[in-house]
Amino acid sequence: MENPWWHSAVVYQIYPRSFADSDGDGMGDLRGIIDHLDHIAGLGVDVVWLSPVYPSPQDDNGYDVSDYQDIEPVFGSLADFDELLAGVHERGMKLVMDLVVNHSSDEHRWFVESRAGRDSAKRDWYWWRPAREGMQPGTPGAEPNNWGSVFGGSAWEYDPASGEYYLHIFSRKQPDLNWENPEVREAVYAMMNWWLDRGVDGFRMDVIDHISKDTSLPDGVPRPGSAYGDGGPYWLNGPRNHEFLREMHQRVFAGRDAMLTVAEMPGVTVQEAVLYTDPARREVDMVFQFDHVWVDRGADPWLLYPLRLTTLKGIFGRWQAGLAEVGWNSLYWNNHDQPRIVSRFGDDGPRYRERSAKMLGAVLHLHRGTPYVYQGEELGMTNAPFATIADFRDIEAIGQYTQAVTHEGRAPEDVLTVLRARGRDNARTPMQWDATPNAGFTTGTPWLPVNPNYPEVNAVAAAKDPDSVYHFYRALIELRHTEPAVVHGDFTMLLPNDERLYAFTRALGGTTLLVIGNFTGGTVRAEIDDAAAWAEAELLLTNAAAPRDLVLEPWQVVVYRRVSRP
Ligand code: GLC
Repeated sequence: MENPWWHSAVVYQIYPRSFADSDGDGMGDLRGIIDHLDHIAGLGVDVVWLSPVYPSPQDDNGYDVSDYQDIEPVFGSLADFDELLAGVHERGMKLVMDLVVNHSSDEHRWFVESRAGRDSAKRDWYWWRPAREGMQPGTPGAEPNNWGSVFGGSAWEYDPASGEYYLHIFSRKQPDLNWENPEVREAVYAMMNWWLDRGVDGFRMDVIDHISKDTSLPDGVPRPGSAYGDGGPYWLNGPRNHEFLREMHQRVFAGRDAMLTVAEMPGVTVQEAVLYTDPARREVDMVFQFDHVWVDRGADPWLLYPLRLTTLKGIFGRWQAGLAEVGWNSLYWNNHDQPRIVSRFGDDGPRYRERSAKMLGAVLHLHRGTPYVYQGEELGMTNAPFATIADFRDIEAIGQYTQAVTHEGRAPEDVLTVLRARGRDNARTPMQWDATPNAGFTTGTPWLPVNPNYPEVNAVAAAKDPDSVYHFYRALIELRHTEPAVVHGDFTMLLPNDERLYAFTRALGGTTLLVIGNFTGGTVRAEIDDAAAWAEAELLLTNAAAPRDLVLEPWQVVVYRRVSRP
């Protein structure tokens, strides 16, 4: 397969509950998305990825699905969905659904049946285990093993009726499906085919490197300062993960054209990613890896580590080199699980918010891979001012806070400092459409307050201003569509030891692009080889005045092009 369409594509992610509310209940919905499709199409993106819109108790905002083949009534109906799909297709874009099948909701009928008793026909569709040997079921420490859940507390929930426990890597309302059972896999494939037959164009697969577990479920190494062990080594990239994805490919995607499969894989290594995305192996098209968004994390989860640009460049450089020949990567700064990038690695103050947002966008988009734009990123939306834990809605933030403060004795203010910087709710405040109350997101009370900076940061203002972040993203996306070196060019990292500048080239045939981003609030000269020639080259894109002699202004990015004639 030579150069599939998604190599030159850009994806826009919608988090439906925070995008646009058409009926005033404070929660975004499908009609709200339909009303705003022109905003998305106007950016020039190729694909829309919808975070989950299936029926769900919303314990984890829809990542706990209670029916895979319907639409959550708060979001609308299947008829609304079909209208949305048609609207996306009419505008020449594709629609990718979220596929959340490592776990279901505990309210899914599969789990309800599984829980009904030890001899239920669906008992083995989930991970049920007895108490640890010699322990009284339901007593502290009697869980089948010591794994902690990602959202705090044990990864096991006791079911008094049957005297057994079920596994949940995420919340207790997200029981893990047992992929060892072929009936589970066939049920998932049938559901996926149902959506593809309806016209959707692919799937973003939630934590899909968690589906194969080490079936002996051994204790994990205790986490420092925690009552729980780390189960990651036994549930990440397990022994049958490749096999399951190959089987899924055969049962669902083989024989269909133009699909997109994106595998969210926390903890995936470059070597494994090459295997997952090697087209010859027919598993998935691209991975969503986490190394670069974990760059500021250390051994202690409740400490903030400042960004070291050299480390970030090391990570991106390793991924670019590792997937240069075989395989494909996604490129993202933001999604519904990450804080806003301009607040994280840029400067979200009034002076440099827009300029640093553009610099970050350009540096990311000009790597090799498929870029993702998360709603509001194209406006330079910022983190929100959360004061106390009561301001957070996210189950992860609340669960981790409870574990750290109540059970591990951490100082509340230390935990809050980290949640304010990294908490997922930063990404989930409502989309800022205009300067009317609640940013035009809803006429009711939004489920999470709107960021107070909306009178200034909003889509209407951005559309009017030719220098806005929105129009800069449009230019970036157009550059990917028109300049083959952006899609296919060889990547070379420059200045790997520089803590201030992020610089690289992309080369294809006689064309070379040079990208330099200034990650500081100071003026910096780029000391690169051939600087004099580059300073004379064609300046394709920048976010400040054209520099002289490669002296970059604070947060400036420059993209130059040179074409050598044979
Ligand atoms: C993924 C989702 C995240 C969710 C988790 C469990 O990481 O992106 O939002 O909480 O999986 O489904």
